[in-house]
Amino acid sequence: MVGFNLRDIVSISDFSRKDIEAVLAKAADMEKTPKSKKDTILKDKNVAVLFFEPSTRTRLSFETAVNNLGGSVIGFADAGVSSTKKGESLSHTIKVISGYADMIVMRHSVEGAARRAAEVSKKPVINGGDGANQHPTQTLLDLYTIKKQFKKIDGINIGLLGDLKYGRTVHSLMYAFANFKNVKVYCIAPDSLKMPKNIIEDTAGNIEMKETSKLEEFLPELDVLYATRIQKERFVDEFEYEQIKNVFILGKDNLKNVKKGFRLMHPLPIVNEIKTELDGSEMALYFEQAENGIPVREALLAMLKGVKK
Ligand code: CP
Repeated sequence: MVGFNLRDIVSISDFSRKDIEAVLAKAADMEKTPKSKKDTILKDKNVAVLFFEPSTRTRLSFETAVNNLGGSVIGFADAGVSSTKKGESLSHTIKVISGYADMIVMRHSVEGAARRAAEVSKKPVINGGDGANQHPTQTLLDLYTIKKQFKKIDGINIGLLGDLKYGRTVHSLMYAFANFKNVKVYCIAPDSLKMPKNIIEDTAGNIEMKETSKLEEFLPELDVLYATRIQKERFVDEFEYEQIKNVFILGKDNLKNVKKGFRLMHPLPIVNEIKTELDGSEMALYFEQAENGIPVREALLAMLKGVKK
């Protein structure tokens, strides 16, 4: 297997193509290995799972992954029950917990919080999402899902739909695709929720990108449509959110004109943007995508193994 030299998982931009491929290969290995053959990998390892923001999938799939590998979990799902509530700084919280645990998985509302945590932690830090910035482990499971479905990532045509301004999953995906060849990304968003300019500029030399506000414009060219939720929690003005929250609602009616083999992905949770009538359809890949979080997160935990190189 190809090597892996990362000390922390903070940003997908820290990953080379080789690193990404190493994680995907290890995840494939994890997926086919029964629990009884991998339940000593994290023996005697304690993983702190610290969620300062709500989560269902990221937190529970990390906890499941730790359990499957024979480790133990400490942490909180609500910062309101931690001493953050009393005003303790993130740096102090992390310094202390890195003395208790062998790895730290953290979600925080502040962009850059994971990088700060990694700087002060004695143990590897895994970013489970920092504000509107990055969600690298989601991206790795997204890439794993694409690879599994299409047997490749190079040459894929993907539409990113919805809240491209605040959506951390699509920000990380843009940087990840820049490592691959001939990926075409179609950014589909209303003007007020377009992909940030700095991300477009950072990835411009490596991915072919087109922008539109119309779903139908590039739909027939897509292998995958990656839909996202409008990120209510990031809006300063609630009225602005109310105006735009239902800008795209996908259903059987507006997904007729798609390629054979077309798939619909979504990091979840879905609020209104995909009708439930699509949940059982062949094109809906989002539940399988969420399940892929387990082998991918098992792979990451096993590769870091509590060692800050
Ligand atoms: N995809 C994702 O990050 O889901 P959660 O917010 O439920 O963790």
